Amino acid sequence: MNPFVFHNPTKLIFGKGQNEQLADQVKQYAKHVLLVYGGGSIKKNGLYDFVLTQLKEAGVKITELAGVEPNPRLTTVHKGIQLCKEEEIDLVLAVGGGSVIDASKAIAVGAKFDGDIWDIIKKKQQPTGALPLGTVLTLAATGSEMNAGSVITNWETNEKLGWGSPFSFPTFSILDPANTVSVPRDQTVYGIVDMMSHVIEAYFHKSENTELQDRMMESILLTVMEAGPKLLDDLENEDLRETILYCGTMALNGVTQMGLHGDWATHNIEHAVSAVYDIPHAGGLAILFPHTLRYALDEKISRHVKLATRVLGVDPTGKSDKEVALEGIEKLSAFWTSLGAPNRLVDYDIDNSQIDRMAELASNRGPFGNFKKLDEADVREILKAAL
Ligand code: NZQ
Ligand code: ZN
Repeated sequence: MNPFVFHNPTKLIFGKGQNEQLADQVKQYAKHVLLVYGGGSIKKNGLYDFVLTQLKEAGVKITELAGVEPNPRLTTVHKGIQLCKEEEIDLVLAVGGGSVIDASKAIAVGAKFDGDIWDIIKKKQQPTGALPLGTVLTLAATGSEMNAGSVITNWETNEKLGWGSPFSFPTFSILDPANTVSVPRDQTVYGIVDMMSHVIEAYFHKSENTELQDRMMESILLTVMEAGPKLLDDLENEDLRETILYCGTMALNGVTQMGLHGDWATHNIEHAVSAVYDIPHAGGLAILFPHTLRYALDEKISRHVKLATRVLGVDPTGKSDKEVALEGIEKLSAFWTSLGAPNRLVDYDIDNSQIDRMAELASNRGPFGNFKKLDEADVREILKAAL
């Protein structure tokens, strides 16, 4: 195990009926709230009206920033920062999925920064503080509700970059499974793939003696693989929504990654793909992950074998480690396909015309991946295999 310090300051308010806590939470931090949301799903499912009622009960002034895009744009973040500065906002409240929360993290940090937030995202400047950030999560997927990460797209330069800082943890997050019941089938599938991918990125590490972390990660994967297909047959089942919601948070709130450095190469490649093609994040992951895993087959094969035998149900009897590992990758890919996830880039009409561009974007900050180091040529091979 690597030595580690764990500090996660987000207050997690989880469970059925917990939406009711919003007014009390808001009152503790705010007189004037910037309410940030996406393209309107919260207006269709009634959550918007509920949030307004809670904010009225809290007695706060409200300014709205609507229309945060999936794969949120820097231009929208700039708008939010300007509103915070002009209107003297004292709490950013994100009501939505990972995109709304990620944009709100950048807004909260940008509101306390004199320069351009893009310089922080590009890691040229350090943040100097943040407004408090509250979230009401509506989609189980990214874990953004309880981590410091944020992913922002600069569409002008085709860069989709992850960043984070100790200032970008949400102050509080309300996770009421009722808010996720309206998530359509395709987004539910993406959420399942994304949370599994977060665990698998962490699982492919080179640290030794991580028995507890491995078991925790395996338990999240097994739980998602059991509850996920049931949920897709019964989208309004609040118990299954609750299970998946909890899995999504636990998959990427830092708990599974204590004492180890996960790989994160596939996420980096996917961000380059969605920076050029604007595809759903987890659709890209479902396509790419089997290929990066196959590409890393000769790297510490014991990790592949552990995942294949303990999680993916591969019987190792009479098989070489390599055969077990390959069968595991096939089973993972088949599981995602069985849910309805895509498995080739052509499923998103992506051909070979932009492969060089995506490979360059993925590797322009140098070789990456903590399990197998990948460079531009490696990414090109992985993308070609995924066509
Ligand atoms: O915009 P609205 O109208 O709200 O609709 C959204 C959007 O169209 C809809 N939706 C959300 N909640 C809903 C709902 N529809 C009906 N009912 C509900 N309750 O779902 C669509 C997708 O939403 P989005 O927020 O984009 O999805 P997700 O949560 O998967 O977030 C994806 C973004 O997060 C980044 C991704 O790269 C991508 O930009 N990631 C962030 C991470 C983090 N901060 O830690 C880690 C992840 O690996 C990921 O990279
Ligand atoms: Zn992800």
